[in-house]
Amino acid sequence: MPLVTTDPRFPLLAGPTPLRRLDRLEARLGCGPIYLKRDDFMEIGLGGNKLRSLEFWLGAALAEGADVVLVAGGPMSNLCRLTAAAAGIAGLDCVIFHNVAPGPEHNRTSFPNRIFGAELRFLGDVDEDRRAALVEEAAAALRAQGRRPYIVGDAVTGALGYVEAAGELHAQSRALPAPLRHVFLAGSMGPTEAGFIFGNAMLGHPFEVHLVSVEYGQAELAARIARICGDLAVHTGFAMPDLDAPGLHYHMGQLGPGYARPTPAAEAALLTLARSEGILLEHVYTAKTFAGFLDCVHNGVIPAGEPACMVHTGGTASLFAQFHLFRSFPEVEM
Ligand SMILES: Cc1ncc(COP(=O)(O)O)c(C=O)c1O
Repeated sequence: MPLVTTDPRFPLLAGPTPLRRLDRLEARLGCGPIYLKRDDFMEIGLGGNKLRSLEFWLGAALAEGADVVLVAGGPMSNLCRLTAAAAGIAGLDCVIFHNVAPGPEHNRTSFPNRIFGAELRFLGDVDEDRRAALVEEAAAALRAQGRRPYIVGDAVTGALGYVEAAGELHAQSRALPAPLRHVFLAGSMGPTEAGFIFGNAMLGHPFEVHLVSVEYGQAELAARIARICGDLAVHTGFAMPDLDAPGLHYHMGQLGPGYARPTPAAEAALLTLARSEGILLEHVYTAKTFAGFLDCVHNGVIPAGEPACMVHTGGTASLFAQFHLFRSFPEVEM
C-alpha cells in the first residue's frame, strides 16, 4: 500500500528491489544478521536511488505538460545518467548541464548520457549557485522558443521516492524471520535520507535510521534533513517527525578528507563486499556508507543479533571513472 497516493508518479521500477542477506560476509566477520537493500539493482540505466525520485520528478513534469527536462551535475552524476535514461522512456527530451569544461576525459565519463539521447551542455568550472542560475536562464530561453521545460531536482518531490521506499522495506522486513531494526543510508544532499526518515515516521518508527555522512558536517546535514522533512510535512499533511528523538543516528567518522575523497576504510569495505558477495560499491557514496555500517556492526554500536541493513543506493557506473581513487593497485597505470 503506497504511503504517498496523491502525487503524480511515472513508474520506472518493476517492483520492490531485492533485500539480500549477506550471509557469506556474516560468516567471514562473525556478525549478523546483515542485509543489503539493492537499490543498485534496477532495470533502467544501471539503477540507483535517483530512479525512485525520478518517478515523482517525471510524474510532476508530465502532469504540468513539460516536453523537455533539464538537469545539472558533474560528468559522472548518477542523477544526470538516470534522468537521461528515464526521460527517453517518458518521451521527454533531456538537456544535461555539466559544470566542467568540455574535454576528452569528461566526454568519456558522460558518454552514457549521449547513448540515452541527452543533449550535453558544458558550463565550465562554475559553482552550484551559478550552475542553477544558468539552468534557469536556459529554461527561460526554451520557454521563449515555445518549449515547456521542467527542471529536475526539487528536494521535496525527489524525497517522495524514499518515503515510498521506507514502506517497501518495511513490508520486506516484516516477512523476515526477525524484522530489521537498523537501516543505514548515506548522508549527503538530503532527499533520499529525509524521505526515508519521513516514511519511517509515517510507519510508526519501525527502524532506527543511521546516516553515514559522505559530504557535510553534522550540523549542515541535520539542517538539510530538517528542512526537507518540514517541507514534506507541509506537502503531505503528515506530522513533522521529531528529529531529536532517539532512533536517528549520525555517523561522522567516514567522511575523511571530504566529499569524493577516498579513505582507506572505504576502500577496504569495498574490497570486502566485492570479494565476499560479488557486489560492487563506489568511492563517493556507498563505500563510505558500507564502511560505517561494518564499523557499527563490528564495534557493538549495533547490538549483536539485531538485524541491520544498508541501502545500496547505486552509483556503480561511476566506479569506472574512479580508478585513480584506489590505493590497492599501484601496478595499474591510471
Ligand atoms: C549513489 C548515490 N547514493 C547516495 C546519494 C545521496 O543522495 P541524496 O543526494 O538524496 O542525499 C547519491 C546522490 O547523488 C548517489 O548518487
